[in-house]
Amino acid sequence: MTALRSDRLVAEPIDIGHLRELCRMHRDETVMATLGGLRSDDETAQFLASSIAHWRSHDFGLWVWRDKATGAFVGRAGIRRITLGDRPEIELAYALMSEYWSRGLATEIGQALLDRARSMGLNDVVAFTLTTNTASRRVMEKLGMRYERDISHFELPHALYRTPPSEPGG
Ligand SMILES: CC(C)(COP(=O)(O)OP(=O)(O)OC[C@H]1O[C@@H](n2cnc3c(N)ncnc32)[C@H](O)[C@@H]1OP(=O)(O)O)[C@@H](O)C(=O)NCCC(=O)NCCS
Repeated sequence: MTALRSDRLVAEPIDIGHLRELCRMHRDETVMATLGGLRSDDETAQFLASSIAHWRSHDFGLWVWRDKATGAFVGRAGIRRITLGDRPEIELAYALMSEYWSRGLATEIGQALLDRARSMGLNDVVAFTLTTNTASRRVMEKLGMRYERDISHFELPHALYRTPPSEPGG
């Protein structure tokens, strides 16, 4: 139930064994430019600890995604419980190593994650990104999410998208 796959990728719940790959990602300026900047290895270790704790509390969270053919690290993405303002939400989050960009992989991952969320009864999912992050906004649109409003996140302007309400009887 915890593993995930898509046409081109396989995914495993984020765990302590992923520390080196995550440190590599968090030291990559291209990837981190839209994610609040570089993170030190200590910050990544804290990020990983809280991501593992999220899995233990909720039985879902972030996954590490790999190329099905080679096993290479492609990125991290998942769904997690957050609080926006004072409202609890389920967030779809994704980040890929830059050599895998522009192949439709974030959209493929996002679709697999929204399907998994729906199978767990989580139909109301948000995603947000810097207002200037056109690629990420495009991914949200391709996933059928709808622009809701601009929000401030870490004091930076972000666009918030949400899955549409499900069809009656659907
Ligand atoms: C944002 C990100 C996940 C996109 O991943 P990806 O695998 O390249 O996404 P996809 O290929 O599925 O779709 C990208 C879409 O954006 C479009 N796009 C890419 N760069 C663009 C740009 N600069 N301007 C306009 N559109 C752009 C692509 O053409 C594509 O749309 P299309 O299919 O209609 O042609 C990836 O760039 C990334 O990991 N960035 C760093 C982390 C990040 O910003 N995460 C999101 C924070 S919420």
